[in-house]
Amino acid sequence: MSHGIDDKLGIINAPAIQNMVFLKNFSWDGVSHNLDERSLVPITTDFEMDSSLPEVVGKLNADANYKKMFKAAYGDDNITGERVLKAISQFMRTMISADSKYDRHKKGTASFTSEESQGMALFQNKCSSCHSGELFTDESYRNTGMYYNAQYDDRGRYRVTLDWNDNMKFRVPSLRNVEHTAPYMHDGRFYTLEAVLNFYSDNVEDQPNLDPLLKQNGHVGISMTSLEKQNIIAFLKTLSDQNFITNKKFAE
Ligand code: HEC
Repeated sequence: MSHGIDDKLGIINAPAIQNMVFLKNFSWDGVSHNLDERSLVPITTDFEMDSSLPEVVGKLNADANYKKMFKAAYGDDNITGERVLKAISQFMRTMISADSKYDRHKKGTASFTSEESQGMALFQNKCSSCHSGELFTDESYRNTGMYYNAQYDDRGRYRVTLDWNDNMKFRVPSLRNVEHTAPYMHDGRFYTLEAVLNFYSDNVEDQPNLDPLLKQNGHVGISMTSLEKQNIIAFLKTLSDQNFITNKKFAE
């Protein structure tokens, strides 16, 4: 769970801000498509920042440094809500993670251990229909057979479409830097990658709209031996981008 102002609890696990310039939808249920408007939600939501755009603009106007920076960015020091939101989204667009061991392996400047190579082959076979492409998401909404958590009452995509077929469907998340983004899943129910893989192999619930990829030939879940899980995790760790994580680019 993510903690907001005064330690208030939100119902969702905050997703990583990375590679957003390449994505079409944001958040677990895809409720927003417009990155410029996206920051309005956390600014105003009571359990996140519980503020308002006029309050933010007022605070920035009182700070000479911000007035200087707005002048540099926009040509005059007029601070408006629209400019604030644009500045935040432009900043998010610069956060690109594309220098992991996986990327270097593809460029031929790093090589995989045999564990990592086997993990990649297994991943391509068992996971990449949903976690596809270079962002490791096809940006679709899928029901992966997770039990419904009455405490948070989050039915995922259903909250946006009110179509019962979308019950418990969540956006396929990118897996870049996943080693560092625990807890996992929309509600942060798992704390380790091992727990996520144990869920896929043993605890997928056979719900009426369970994704067909998770129920093949009548078998519910994804079959994996513990060695296979270990190799897949070794592969997932190649998606970590140290320069991005340690923020070297932004510290310069
Ligand atoms: C049917 C599509 C599908 C398949 C196949 C699939 N996933 Fe997922 N995966 C998802 C969706 C959807 C979520 C988000 C679910 C949620 O939060 O409720 C997810 C979440 C995850 C997460 C959590 C990421 C985070 O940031 O919280 C990991 C890790 C993961 N999957 C790894 C895998 C691995 C490894 C495989 C193969 C063994 C796999 N997935 C197969 C659709 C899929």
